Amino acid sequence: MNSVDYLRISLIDRCNFRCQYCMPEGAELEHILRQQLLTDRELLTLIQEVFIPIGFTRFRLTGGEPLLRPGVVKLVQAIASFPQIQDLSMTTNGFLLAAMAQDLYNAGLRRINISFDSLNPKTFDLMTGNRGRSRWQQVWESIQVAHQVGFDPLKLNVVVIPGVNDREVLDLAALTLTRRWHVRFIEFMPIGNAQLFSNRGWTPSGELRQSIRSSWGLIKSQVYGAGPADVFQIPGAKGTVGFISQMSECFCDRCNRMRLSADGWLRPCLLNESNQIDLKTSLRLGASPAELREQVRQLLTLKPEINFQQKESGTSSRYTRTMSQIGG
Ligand code: GTP
Ligand code: 5AD
Ligand code: SF4
Repeated sequence: MNSVDYLRISLIDRCNFRCQYCMPEGAELEHILRQQLLTDRELLTLIQEVFIPIGFTRFRLTGGEPLLRPGVVKLVQAIASFPQIQDLSMTTNGFLLAAMAQDLYNAGLRRINISFDSLNPKTFDLMTGNRGRSRWQQVWESIQVAHQVGFDPLKLNVVVIPGVNDREVLDLAALTLTRRWHVRFIEFMPIGNAQLFSNRGWTPSGELRQSIRSSWGLIKSQVYGAGPADVFQIPGAKGTVGFISQMSECFCDRCNRMRLSADGWLRPCLLNESNQIDLKTSLRLGASPAELREQVRQLLTLKPEINFQQKESGTSSRYTRTMSQIGG
């Protein structure tokens, strides 16, 4: 098995967007109650006394929308101050980022991935479940601000949905020609919105890669990251294009991560919740750091090697929870 040194921490399960692929319209999502969230102190204790000593060096803050967590800047500052952490990053929808980017950078955050599914405000609003004033402009502005503030690498995540935003792939890839941005095309997974998945299906990364290659050419490239993206560059471009292909090429055998949900459940896999442990309750019942470390080590030995094909053929129950609930 791979060494597991990357922890994705959900700071909150709530979100101010309702992306079609993540939170289906009309679905009643049960939210974690405030008193059930890990407190800042508990989270810092787990990072410092459990995960760092075990060998975790890379931490990503996710959600829901992590910027909705009260006091997030202070929390980032505290996490960034642990000298053993080699990489601290965040995945956000960007809506609140413009106003917070400088403070987050000053707090020690150095890299950010922003969901950015479309260059077309109407498509963007459709995909992010927005009915009011368009939110596209604000997210677009956040991307520019994040760039100016110095977040590097700055990555944009595009979940590709056939018939919705797949025609924009070349336009999105073209952003990298003149900007040092890293655009990643993500295969739509049957997580969160199974209905949309069965109606629309998903586009294999290979098709997108081919279409970009025929327009400009593509060369293998690299960008710093802890995740599964396969990275390329259009010759002469400033940025890169990446492909996250969990449907067409299972990367479970290379998996290097665990997930900590906002209410303190540690999950070894996005797709399988049968093995998970409740670190918050153990902590609140007075378990010592050594006992918690032992629980995590035990869980690491159970990290499953599962992929979507196995999952769909029934080795585990069909997935109904969203990324925001699991801890994106
Ligand atoms: P870096 O490479 O370090 O920048 O991070 P990342 O790509 O891991 O982070 P990000 O949060 O931007 O994740 C991008 C996408 O990868 C997510 O939206 C998911 O679609 C996918 N992804 C991340 N982690 C997993 C995982 O454990 N399993 C699967 N199947 N997909 C994942
Ligand atoms: N398929 C692929 N990616 C998804 N995300 C959320 N739901 C899905 C899904 N069903 C991604 C978003 C965001 C990250 C937190 O998770 O693009 O970048
Ligand atoms: Fe919110 Fe992210 Fe889910 Fe969109 S994908 S609804 S931004 S948690």
